[in-house]
Amino acid sequence: MEAMLIVANWKTYVETREEAKKLLASAKRLASVRRVKLVLVPPAPLLGLLAPGNRSKVSFGAQDVSTTTVGNATGEVSAAVLRSIGAKYVIVGHSERRAMGETDAVVAEKVKRVLAEGLTPIVCVGERERDADARYLLGLKQQIGSVFAPLDPKQRLSVIIAYEPLWAIGKQAADSIAASDLGEMVLYIRKVLGNYLPGKAAAKAVVLYGGSVEASNIRGLAGGSNVDGFLVGHASVDPGMFPNLVKALA
Ligand code: PGA
Repeated sequence: MEAMLIVANWKTYVETREEAKKLLASAKRLASVRRVKLVLVPPAPLLGLLAPGNRSKVSFGAQDVSTTTVGNATGEVSAAVLRSIGAKYVIVGHSERRAMGETDAVVAEKVKRVLAEGLTPIVCVGERERDADARYLLGLKQQIGSVFAPLDPKQRLSVIIAYEPLWAIGKQAADSIAASDLGEMVLYIRKVLGNYLPGKAAAKAVVLYGGSVEASNIRGLAGGSNVDGFLVGHASVDPGMFPNLVKALA
């Protein structure tokens, strides 16, 4: 079995270097847990503090990236900067960024920038709510298609999809998705990916789930769904819970 990917999205929860360093130290201790690969995703300045010179098994990612490559874009953080400080992954199109106005077109542009620097995009997709006619599935298809369609066949192989239904984000394990429903969604996402990737590659594409993953539900979600890993928000900055969450997958 391939290692499960756990992407720790610190969001804006972590605001000091002391806390960031403690969380990294804890992640390093967890890096030896079997069948788990850890990616820490701090706010950009803290990424710049922790990632350079990192030789541990823990990898780093960024929470967002600029669409720009020009020099005169004050305040933007380009993909080249992220690569230069040691990031390997970039979350793109998180629902909290889409809520601030990021469109599918912008997400697609950012994914291109990330790939051009040799980094791996983790593209977040997910419905706000579910309707009885399952129209939300079409919305998901649209989100995935707008990212994959402009890419060439080789680039498409590097994209990770994180399925994050908005109704499940930032709550507790009990409000998360049911493992069987997640299983269906992973199947559906692979089916959509089949429009852009050869069959075998669609079956092997990395599909993550995010939305109230905690220590108490991660094992059930993993076992019942064929998912390749998790994007973890609030539980990833909880020093009491995160080690248990990681060990639950071992
Ligand atoms: P959560 O966040 O684990 O706090 O629900 C997940 C995410 O938004 O990536």
